[in-house]
Amino acid sequence: MKKAYIETYGCQMNVNDTEVIFAILREAGYERTEKMEEAGLVMANTCSIRDNAEQRIWGRLDVFNQQKKARPGVLVGIVGCMAERLKDKLLDNGKVDLVVGPDAYRSLPRLLEAITPDKPQIDVLLSRDETYADITPVRTDRTGISAFISIMRGCNNVCSYCVVPYTRGAERSRDAHSIIREACDVYSRGYKEVTLLGQNVDSYLWKSSDETVNFARLLERVAAIAPDLRVRFATSHPKDISDEVIETMAAHPNICRHIHLPVQSGSSRMLEKMRRKYDREWYLERVAKIRSLIPDCGLTTDVIAGFCSETEEDHRETLSLMEEVGFDWAFMFAYSERPGTLAQRNYPDDVPADVKNRRLNEIIELQNRKSLERYRAQVGKEVEVLVEGPSKRDPAQLCGRASNNMMCVFPALDRKSGTYVKVKVKDCTSATLICE
Ligand code: 5AD
Ligand code: SF4
Repeated sequence: MKKAYIETYGCQMNVNDTEVIFAILREAGYERTEKMEEAGLVMANTCSIRDNAEQRIWGRLDVFNQQKKARPGVLVGIVGCMAERLKDKLLDNGKVDLVVGPDAYRSLPRLLEAITPDKPQIDVLLSRDETYADITPVRTDRTGISAFISIMRGCNNVCSYCVVPYTRGAERSRDAHSIIREACDVYSRGYKEVTLLGQNVDSYLWKSSDETVNFARLLERVAAIAPDLRVRFATSHPKDISDEVIETMAAHPNICRHIHLPVQSGSSRMLEKMRRKYDREWYLERVAKIRSLIPDCGLTTDVIAGFCSETEEDHRETLSLMEEVGFDWAFMFAYSERPGTLAQRNYPDDVPADVKNRRLNEIIELQNRKSLERYRAQVGKEVEVLVEGPSKRDPAQLCGRASNNMMCVFPALDRKSGTYVKVKVKDCTSATLICE
């Protein structure tokens, strides 16, 4: 059998897309390998979210091409968001044989068949209804404990900074029955955790002739599969996360106490310009609602520093919001202008790089302090952990996540991966709970 090697960049959704791609490639006679040197097909599943994400891929393309030179006949592919954004521009330098966008993975067998050395193949058509609902992903996680399940694709929010609506197309929700089937299937194969994925899970909506399933109802159904199956989800949008979803979480102990709720900025003026469709007060109200119904809920976020026209005052509002909410963890970025977005077309990228970086560093410093506070508050508590496997740092220790998504390490004893253990938190860093 021919072998395919895929490197995955970007978000969890891309991790799951790579699993779908392996399933489709199997039809074309390819099996998965983790060794680039033995692969006949070498690909990157790419991300366009910031310029540095794309720069990294250009670097990897050179490495892939060394394979091509050393072993004639090796095919190189670029798939995913960068394929969709750059389209045939990726074919210009003769380094790439195959360019496939996020909605065109079903064409892979046909395209691979048609490739010749002077005839690279491309399919970047976006679709209104493709959800790959009928494809059983080839799981690529190492542990067999936690699986990603895509529940929707695309995005209908046009946040002014964001390239995703252009790379992943319009939003569409996947057939609820196929989601439940997939979750039951992974559970029957020993998985203990599923993460439901979408750009904006709160706007999940699937209708058939006799039923309508929104995100809260979907969560409920997945949680009902088994009490020892943990359910996680990402990403929530502050404008859409409903009381019904928060109440559903509160009512089901196996829906994990963690919400990733990207705020982007603490300044209502910036949020308006970002077209986020909520303001600072709305965000803080949603956080208050979550904390009143689920007091132990972990909250994480995304923050962008230095968006167009951001002033010191706007920046201080971001810091004060972060201070007020106290996130457990955050992904923090300097604004990166993306071609074709509303912001690129309408607003100058006018915060100088050194100012952006200084603001970003202040955001990171504040978050590190807050993370340490949040982790310290767990010391002395007992938490339930799903054992994932040996800790990377010390194989005599095991690691796994608490319901609120905090990583825990604890002595291995005779505990097995995929089981639940109660541990006591003894100490912590700003990213790990050290337990017994
Ligand atoms: N520049 C910087 N960060 C961005 N993000 C999205 N687009 C950009 C951009 N142009 C961040 C947002 C989003 C996360 C996935 O990436 O914070 O939530
Ligand atoms: Fe994921 Fe967005 Fe990157 Fe695409 S651009 S891979 S959707 S993070």
